[in-house]
Amino acid sequence: MKNGRANFGTKLGIILASAGSAVGLGNIWRFPYETGNYGGAAFIFIYLGCVLLLGLPIMIAEFVIGRKSRANTAGAYQILAPGTHWRWVGRMGVLAGFLILSFYSVVAGWTLEYVIEALGNGFAGKTPADYVQSFQTFSSNPWKPIIWLVLFLLGTHFIIVRGVEKGIEKSSKVMMPMLFVLIIVLVICSVSLPGASKGIEFLLKPDFSKVNGDVFLGAMGQAFFSLSLGMGCLCTYASYFSKDVNLTRTAFSVGIIDTFIAILAGFIIFPAAFSVGIQPDAGPSLIFITLPNVFQQAFSGAPWLAYIFSVLFYLLLALAALTSTISMHEVVTAYLHEEFKLSRRKAAWMVTSGCIILGVLCSLSLGVGKHITLFGLGLFDLLDFFTAKILLPLGGMLISVFVGWYLDKQIVWNQITNKGTLKVHTYKIIIFILKFIAPIAIGLVFLNELKLF
Ligand code: TRP
Repeated sequence: MKNGRANFGTKLGIILASAGSAVGLGNIWRFPYETGNYGGAAFIFIYLGCVLLLGLPIMIAEFVIGRKSRANTAGAYQILAPGTHWRWVGRMGVLAGFLILSFYSVVAGWTLEYVIEALGNGFAGKTPADYVQSFQTFSSNPWKPIIWLVLFLLGTHFIIVRGVEKGIEKSSKVMMPMLFVLIIVLVICSVSLPGASKGIEFLLKPDFSKVNGDVFLGAMGQAFFSLSLGMGCLCTYASYFSKDVNLTRTAFSVGIIDTFIAILAGFIIFPAAFSVGIQPDAGPSLIFITLPNVFQQAFSGAPWLAYIFSVLFYLLLALAALTSTISMHEVVTAYLHEEFKLSRRKAAWMVTSGCIILGVLCSLSLGVGKHITLFGLGLFDLLDFFTAKILLPLGGMLISVFVGWYLDKQIVWNQITNKGTLKVHTYKIIIFILKFIAPIAIGLVFLNELKLF
């Protein structure tokens, strides 16, 4: 408990907590719907490239900043680069965290509604069209989604107030492996539905002729979103890491777990969607209208299995979302607590109430407030776009420049190799990517979107 800050207890706990932050609605809800939007396999290939080339090195860079400074993300820059403008990178991250948490909690709230629906056996005996209808009725209802959103944020709040180690670590240890097993079962069910092969083709046969700049921006944004990168989330977690953690290996483990789950989610959603005739580009509703079909159709001979699996799945999805909302909440709370000397409790309340207000507006923007738009997008979509496709990649670019160019080489070396005690074969590649590849690649994608060439 150096300088009064908490630490993670065990190495497994560290990987699980970081993976718990990374694995969430980003993998199971956002990845399939973006894959559907951008046409399938080609998007996935580009996404994998982004994870490998940008995601992993930038994750290591965040780990370096966090563990070296042992502070919240804005404080980290003040410690490592006192009196410079770098602290704005941290502040931008805090803002991104707050904004993402607000719209993310809306979807997290939906998962709770679906838990209750599953518990009441509400999916039984319905047709695919019924699922579409009931999702639309629910999500545009002014009250129900808001109540779930508030409950979800309050749940996050109480875990945050109980402290880092007890709350985050314990919950991650049990839930992650369970979710993984259930996902595998569901993949098997989904690919054996009649007509599923079209969905598999959609996932594996790339059509590069449809790839344009937007696809690159979408894939890059999704990589940052899914890996929890670009806003100092894993940097804040790394500030709780102990000295002997192997940063490179931890980043690889988290990256592999996260990517694996996203791809598997694709193999649940698309075979099922094609099997029952739901369009892959249905948007944010995609998993909520396809999954009930998987449960009902794959287990039509054993309704009790359909019941158990649907309850378990939505429950675990809600819990996966919870380990992610905790990590975003922690970034903003740690910032207010350490930078403004507020008590943790007070800081946490400010974050929770702010997110409730913004979250409610996001939720309404999908129903009664549908007609209120800016740049053609409602508040929910606007926040999603602004954070995932602008703030996070921009944050990632600045983080890679910070570690690649600004930070003292000795510091970076000491952090990545634990003062020379670890042999990190990829060291030179990591530094090269942080210095050149990542900033240039992200810059090019941005410039291309601005239609500058
Ligand atoms: N990565 C999480 C998911 O896939 C969401 C998340 C948690 C996140 N912390 C973040 C996204 C920080 C961006 C930045 O569901």
